[in-house]
Amino acid sequence: MTEKQLLDLLHEMTLKEKVDQMLQITGSFYQKDANEVLTGPENKLGLTAEDLRYAGSILGTAGAERLKKIQERYLETQPHKIPMLFMMDIIHGMKTVFPIPLAQGASFNPALSKECAAAAAKEAAVSGLHVTFAPMADLVRDPRWGRVMESTGEDPYLNSLFARAMVEGFQGDDPKEPYRIAACVKHFAAYGAAEAGRDYNTAELSEHTLWESYLPAYRAGIEAGAALVMTSFNTVNGIPASTNRWLMRDILRDELGFDGVLISDFSAIYETITHGHAKDKADAAQKALDAGVDIDMMSDVYSSNLCRLVEEGAVEEALVDEAVLRILRLKNRLGLFENPYKDADPEGEKRYILCAEHRALARRAATESAVLLKNDGLLPLAPKSSVALIGPYLRSRGMISSWAIAGELSDCVTVEEAAKSVFDPRNTYYADGCPMVSEGTAFAGFREETPCAVSEEKQGEMLREALDAAKQAETVVLLLGEHYLQSGEAASRAMIELPEVQMELFREVYKVNQNIAVALFGGRPLDLREISRKAKAVLEAWLPGTEGGNAVIDLLSGKANPSGKLSMSFPYCVGQVPVHYNMDSTGRPWIPGGQDRCRSRYLDIPNEPLYPFGYGLSYTEFTVSPVVLDRDVLTKDTPLTASVLVKNTGTVPGVEAVQLYIRDEYASVVRPIKELKGFQKVRLAPGEEREIRFTIDEPMLRFHTADNGFSSETGRFTLYVGQDSATENSTCFELA
Ligand code: NOJ
Repeated sequence: MTEKQLLDLLHEMTLKEKVDQMLQITGSFYQKDANEVLTGPENKLGLTAEDLRYAGSILGTAGAERLKKIQERYLETQPHKIPMLFMMDIIHGMKTVFPIPLAQGASFNPALSKECAAAAAKEAAVSGLHVTFAPMADLVRDPRWGRVMESTGEDPYLNSLFARAMVEGFQGDDPKEPYRIAACVKHFAAYGAAEAGRDYNTAELSEHTLWESYLPAYRAGIEAGAALVMTSFNTVNGIPASTNRWLMRDILRDELGFDGVLISDFSAIYETITHGHAKDKADAAQKALDAGVDIDMMSDVYSSNLCRLVEEGAVEEALVDEAVLRILRLKNRLGLFENPYKDADPEGEKRYILCAEHRALARRAATESAVLLKNDGLLPLAPKSSVALIGPYLRSRGMISSWAIAGELSDCVTVEEAAKSVFDPRNTYYADGCPMVSEGTAFAGFREETPCAVSEEKQGEMLREALDAAKQAETVVLLLGEHYLQSGEAASRAMIELPEVQMELFREVYKVNQNIAVALFGGRPLDLREISRKAKAVLEAWLPGTEGGNAVIDLLSGKANPSGKLSMSFPYCVGQVPVHYNMDSTGRPWIPGGQDRCRSRYLDIPNEPLYPFGYGLSYTEFTVSPVVLDRDVLTKDTPLTASVLVKNTGTVPGVEAVQLYIRDEYASVVRPIKELKGFQKVRLAPGEEREIRFTIDEPMLRFHTADNGFSSETGRFTLYVGQDSATENSTCFELA
């Protein structure tokens, strides 16, 4: 349709029909065979049968047949044949589940995430979906927050690259094209800043930090053309995001130039009443509309109030029109007026879902995301040596995560299955060792599961079996981690340690065999002090998805060489949180080994995280030469080039992510100690050396200045090139 046709359509619509477009409900309101809208118990939401029948979009339901049926029924009675939109959280894969976003961040390979997003879009599109609620572009600094698993990490630059890549992967050049879906950048804004890492808590941050650290990734997703943005649950500057006019109109629309659909998070407009900001539903409706929120997800705030408010003259109909026009444009952008079913196709579901190509991609992504945190030469496992694979992640399919809502546990390859296909049965031993968690452990997530009670007797048996295996083998691989329902939405934890039952297993095994490699699973950085002190090797595998088992065995066996780099610092312990490499400089920085008492430090622990951002080892070794600049003065018109020689000094081929950091030495506002400004992944054969060059130009040095501008300031900078954010391999230059 042309813009003119959309406007004509808008003008033909009744007020009620327009407000219907602004309501989103879940697919649970439809009967299993999609024949009818259910208005039974769920009616308590305050919605009428009419509201449900004509809601402009639904969320959380997939399946080509089912969605086609719902669309067909809907169009039979929708007065202007305006098709319904189908949305769902396709966060890191549909049925083929890719590694969690935090792991994808650790691949330092946004192009790979773009491929994963495109594959997820294809599986979603044939299943009848039009929109995914991804990417989550929230910056994260607190591993207590369960949703760090859904972010690509603590760095604004890295997050921006991934947000852009994922939007491009989902949408392609045009979301109307076959097998593409529309992307929704979320949660605007600063949801990741929840105080004390407790989900849905207040976010407290300065406007400067908002601009410098939190907004860049949302901006990148928007500039990549994301069709939607979702509001966040938290307050920003004291006002809930969903009713925050300044945040949504001045920043999102005016400053970031977003002109797509703004959808609330689940019931977030309604919750502004609980926040103590809106007086009642009518007030919430008025405030959210005033802020420019177009769709009310899962509440009756808009549908029960907007018509009346317009009729009473309390709300201008023009505001409703503005929102509805954006929704119609989105439907048009997806080509739904011409083909309301888009790619929904049961044959396509059979062909593409979990196809060999997608599984191979998932295996590659899981392999590239894993981070080798420690290795005293134990990995890769020596060929022909005997090995005991022990731990609750040996047979767990939970490694797809709880947020892979369309994924099936049964499609996931376990570590044991993968190992059995490659390891010699004569010298490989397998044992669970202990339950994943003890009874009574709190879970949250989108799968019904409670920790089952394992009797003391059974636990004793499990331990004995594990110790027998550990004694017989030369090497033990312990497959440990958080339960997959211990991270994700509403899954904050104050203690970021491994479940105690697993630590007990670790300590017992350590008594009989100290050749321990730990493969770790989970959705967040954990406190790994004891593990990293005692184990000879530690491999962070995250929640690696459907092909996780194969990827882990590829890495343990040396078929693949780890190349991941941490996208988020691993704190020394929880008392250090939040700890991130790009903190602002203080006036009294601690100088390790210094004598001065009054410095910014802890008396009992180091300032440094256990493993910093950007860190990750390989089975080979790399050296990076001192940095050489082609000039030491940079001007607005003349960029400079920094180069290093990177050499593989080990014995196997490997990939290194060479990282560029810059520190602005003095400025009108205090600047971070270091900021990631670029990286290059280089594959080198043993003995091979290559020159890596980075171009540094003036726009890379811009920041939000004291006078609210966005520009660079002349002066001195330190430039670092190295293998992680702790690198000291540096030189200086001036910006003239
Ligand atoms: C709430 C979550 O915060 C959001 O990320 C998600 O997209 C919606 N629920 C819809 O499932």
